Amino acid sequence: MCGIVGYVGTGRAAPILLDGLKKLEYRGYDSAGIAVLDGSRMQLFRRAGSVAYLEEARKLQGCIGIGHTRWATHGAPTEQNAHPHVYGRFAVVHNGIIENMQPLKEACLKRGETFSSETDSEIIAHLIEFCYDGDFIKAVRSACARLEGAYALAVLCTAEPDTIVLARRASPLVLGEGEDGLYLASDIPAIARKGIKIYALSDGEFAILRGREIAFYTEDGRKISKDPIDYDCEEEIPEKKGFAHFMRKEMSEIPLAMANTQKIIPCYPRISELREVLCHAEYIEIVACGTAYHSGICAKYAFESLARVPVAVSIASEYRYRDPIVKKGTVVIAVSQSGETADTLAAAELARARGAVVVAVTNVRFSSLARLADHVLFTCAGREIAVAATKSFNAQLMLLYSLAEELARARGGRVCGAELAELPALAAEAGRAAEGVRGWTAHFAGAKSVFFLGRGADYCAALEGSLKFKEITYLPSEGYPAGELKHGTLALVERNTPVVALLTSRRLAEKTMNAVHETYARGAKVFLITCLPEYCSREEVSFSVVIPDCGEIFSPALSVIPLQALAYYVSVARGNDPDKPRNLAKSVTVE
Ligand code: F6R
Repeated sequence: MCGIVGYVGTGRAAPILLDGLKKLEYRGYDSAGIAVLDGSRMQLFRRAGSVAYLEEARKLQGCIGIGHTRWATHGAPTEQNAHPHVYGRFAVVHNGIIENMQPLKEACLKRGETFSSETDSEIIAHLIEFCYDGDFIKAVRSACARLEGAYALAVLCTAEPDTIVLARRASPLVLGEGEDGLYLASDIPAIARKGIKIYALSDGEFAILRGREIAFYTEDGRKISKDPIDYDCEEEIPEKKGFAHFMRKEMSEIPLAMANTQKIIPCYPRISELREVLCHAEYIEIVACGTAYHSGICAKYAFESLARVPVAVSIASEYRYRDPIVKKGTVVIAVSQSGETADTLAAAELARARGAVVVAVTNVRFSSLARLADHVLFTCAGREIAVAATKSFNAQLMLLYSLAEELARARGGRVCGAELAELPALAAEAGRAAEGVRGWTAHFAGAKSVFFLGRGADYCAALEGSLKFKEITYLPSEGYPAGELKHGTLALVERNTPVVALLTSRRLAEKTMNAVHETYARGAKVFLITCLPEYCSREEVSFSVVIPDCGEIFSPALSVIPLQALAYYVSVARGNDPDKPRNLAKSVTVE
């Protein structure tokens, strides 16, 4: 996780670094810092908390510097542990995790070196200083050769005050060449602007930014040339546009995100090739994390029900370490909003190495996942700023449902074209209905724990509703299969425990209501989200919201909307910032 930036040029570095860091806060906001060289004087400014606390550093003089916004892995989110880390002549910002920090640190301590932080990253500055014999890039290369783990690094040296050295292994790093200087960052939007040329550093590569020149090197020190990426620098920087939070604004964009995503598969240039691969797939495995994993679970119901292809859904961090069997004809769909989630990338790489065809579903062009997959289908949700995923989830569902439909058509399965086509418009209706949950807030804001129940596709939506709820309200919650409750979890239900029941399938409605009744009989307060209005008047139900009926299989795309709204309103009522929940970051680039 963490975001890094850097600049060397004719402008003052500090304001450029601060503006870049603000755009990277989705990667972490536990602490932040910058180092700016004024001649050979290293100026360091670090603070615990978000980039906003660095404003005082804006006035620093100097045209070269590096910066960092942190999501803490090793060491508490304090000023002492904030990057850049300075040792000897070097200042370092690091995104990633150094896995062999302990033996490296012991060697430094034996040499009599002292450490000023608890981080794994400080070791890098020590190693570079140790390896330095007057050749900056050689010192960084030698230090990197001793590191195990993941890193994107930018390094400053007081002995070469016009130079930044960069290195990358398993953490993203891009460079920009503009009129006024050279830039680096963890992702493209942090540096993109009109007229800038963007380059991506690949795994194992190094780069030197010196004065007005960028030089690229392979791991073994060979100089290479690179072409700039074809990137649309006109992309709009998202603003709240009158909404109190990005999360609320992004929820309002769900219908548009779904409508835009709906057009993707028909326009995919290699659709016949993809269709061929899918048609011959004996087995589909979906790998993802968090909310993206939930969209995978929802999609499994659609693929199996419509196309009759067996689908397994794996949490990427489990898949990568369980020695998975990848049979001939396996298609692995890796789902990731950011396209940078370390575990999803590793799972996709492993699947590919074992012979699977990898299809990426991602919201970010030029992301690492997009670069490694055999086929890439983009969700068109637009940039998502709030840490809690909302519109990207609905867009993932739209895309995965469309893929299932495509496959069903090709394999002579069940085709639901009309229902699918209507989903974006129905999502707009569900958005209006979802406002009804606002009145439920008081019953949830002080709850000890909350349950989300459903069967079939409703269970999938319950999982996502629960994740959203705990993530931004900090209240314990569980998404549970309605039929499974009585096998243990029912013991947790007590008087006034809020139970949110999802009921969108007429086929399963009475079965779900049995479980609901079991919670009601034990004192639970039941809140119903349904497209079957006749259930709202049942004695068990205290409050209800009616959403449109879009058919059982696709229902999570609508039923999740009031669940997102519930999480949002309860979070705000509890005084939290729903856009930046504690301990989390938007992009999880460490395992
Ligand atoms: C929850 C949330 C996370 C992400 C997860 C995967 O609201 O956003 O659970 O879904 O970290 O991220 P991506 O989709 O970027 O791989």
